[in-house]
Amino acid sequence: MRHWELLGTAPIPGTDDSMHLYKGKDDFSIKLKGGYELMNTRKHGSEDALGQLPCQRLKNTRSAQVLVGGLGMGFTLAAVLAEVGPEAVVTVAELVPEVVEWNRGPLGEASGYPLNDPRVRVHPGDVGRLLRASRNTFDVIALDVDNGPAGLTAKANDRLYSIDGINAAQEALRPGGILAYWSAAPDRTFNERLRRCGFDVEEVRVFAHGSKGTRHVIWLVSLER
Ligand SMILES: C[S@@+](CC[C@H](N)C(=O)[O-])C[C@H]1O[C@@H](n2cnc3c(N)ncnc32)[C@H](O)[C@@H]1O
Repeated sequence: MRHWELLGTAPIPGTDDSMHLYKGKDDFSIKLKGGYELMNTRKHGSEDALGQLPCQRLKNTRSAQVLVGGLGMGFTLAAVLAEVGPEAVVTVAELVPEVVEWNRGPLGEASGYPLNDPRVRVHPGDVGRLLRASRNTFDVIALDVDNGPAGLTAKANDRLYSIDGINAAQEALRPGGILAYWSAAPDRTFNERLRRCGFDVEEVRVFAHGSKGTRHVIWLVSLER
């Protein structure tokens, strides 16, 4: 049986639950209630892709404005930073303050401490709220706040994947912008909801780690306006 050292516990705002940071022999794990593993530093192929794929579709990355929600273990943020130019600004919204602290501490090494990059702005709090308050602001919005449209972390996240949430994200995008959603599994209902909102949707399956085994889903939505 593997030995896990508990490094920290953080309440999840708006819920009665908490998340826990563990250190293993050569990895870190963030777990939810019942030991469900939300993330592990050894598997981040699809989190990297969530940052890479939408940025690679941008015409101009030099001064791109990007929103990443949430921070998790920082892999999506690091992948965005590798794609965008020196004048870009990358805002990362994170609901759980301790997750930001953990990334500034020992957890940050796995993703190369992306929070130290001068192009990064941390927005503490709910990414949905930030989206609803933003108009015509971002060239890319990359969302991975949960297990996918059928969430686990916070019930309130369902709203992000609703018609209202999709429309809020659309309004927060600039013309030509790209919206990307991560999910642990395919979700036909959500896919159809995106199409019903009138978007051109591309569903990409990406390996969680390496080139075999579990695959996750990324939906890429382009706004041609
Ligand atoms: C699965 S992890 C993200 C993993 C990330 N893509 C990475 O590369 O490591 C989900 C993160 O979203 C955060 N989160 C959950 N709900 C949120 C919300 N409504 N707004 C902002 N962050 C949220 C969680 O605390 C957690 O850090």
